[in-house]
Amino acid sequence: MIECSAPAKIILFGEHAVVYGQPAIAVPVSSIRARAQVETNVPTGQGLRINAADLGETLTVDLESDLEHALAIMARLNLKTLNSNPPDATITLHSEIPLASGLGSGAAVATALGRALSTTVGQPLDNEALNALVFEIEKLYHGTPSGIDNTVVVYEQPVYFVREQPIETLKIGAPFTLLIGDTGISASTRVAVGDVRKLYEADSTHIQPILDRIGMLVKNARQVIETGDTAALGELMRENHTLLRQLTVSSPELDRLVQAAVGAGAIGAKLSGGGRGGNMIALVTPTSAETVQAALLQAGAARVIMTTVE
Ligand code: PMV
Repeated sequence: MIECSAPAKIILFGEHAVVYGQPAIAVPVSSIRARAQVETNVPTGQGLRINAADLGETLTVDLESDLEHALAIMARLNLKTLNSNPPDATITLHSEIPLASGLGSGAAVATALGRALSTTVGQPLDNEALNALVFEIEKLYHGTPSGIDNTVVVYEQPVYFVREQPIETLKIGAPFTLLIGDTGISASTRVAVGDVRKLYEADSTHIQPILDRIGMLVKNARQVIETGDTAALGELMRENHTLLRQLTVSSPELDRLVQAAVGAGAIGAKLSGGGRGGNMIALVTPTSAETVQAALLQAGAARVIMTTVE
């Protein structure tokens, strides 16, 4: 049986400013994944079915249909790119990645589907081609995405990302541990990105310097990650959170979790992704991890996931 998967992701630095051409850093979270399983032992002439198990939906995909579902669009794009007809197959999708919380669930599901479908028709897409297709799907969800989510999810490597530039992967000087704390509030990245755009258009002389400072900070963070200076990394996270607050994309819940983490001994903490809800991240040591995790739950986190970046 063909089985393909893709990881969740988190943005470490540079969200929002990345939309304006500044660099950002994101890493995969390989322990949480979206998976696609292909069943080809189906009646001849059945065509292509996608069973979105978590949504309780089954879609039938044919090239002429104008089904607006993102998964159907991904499948059609895939088949058209490969010049292939829909195979007789059922592709079942499962995702362990929480929805709409900045962990890249949409990109991961589309990636797993693209890998599975292209493999099924005997023309597995390489990462570059797959990344271009998943970016199209991201545009449906987010309007004007920078492309960072699909890139880190498809390549499953830490990336230093600059919009419309060749992909640069990142070396991790020393592994570090993060807690991902979920506010439990689902927030629209599209709305947050749109609000920053309005702010920028209304007052670019005030907003541009904030974006520039985030860009500088991300360049620093890259060096610090490559040399493995965890203390400096924490400081940069705190600074990045302050700048994101100035862009109005934090929220009382995110601020509360960030404060709780730092108060309980995290080296640094910040919101991650679109903001307004979704997740924050806290940089911890093996000795502080448990205390910080307890503090996050105490401060209202709906879930805390631990991940090591290496
Ligand atoms: O909410 P997420 O994790 O999908 O991240 C969005 C990141 C932004 O920089 C806010 C938008 C983008 O397209 O890069």
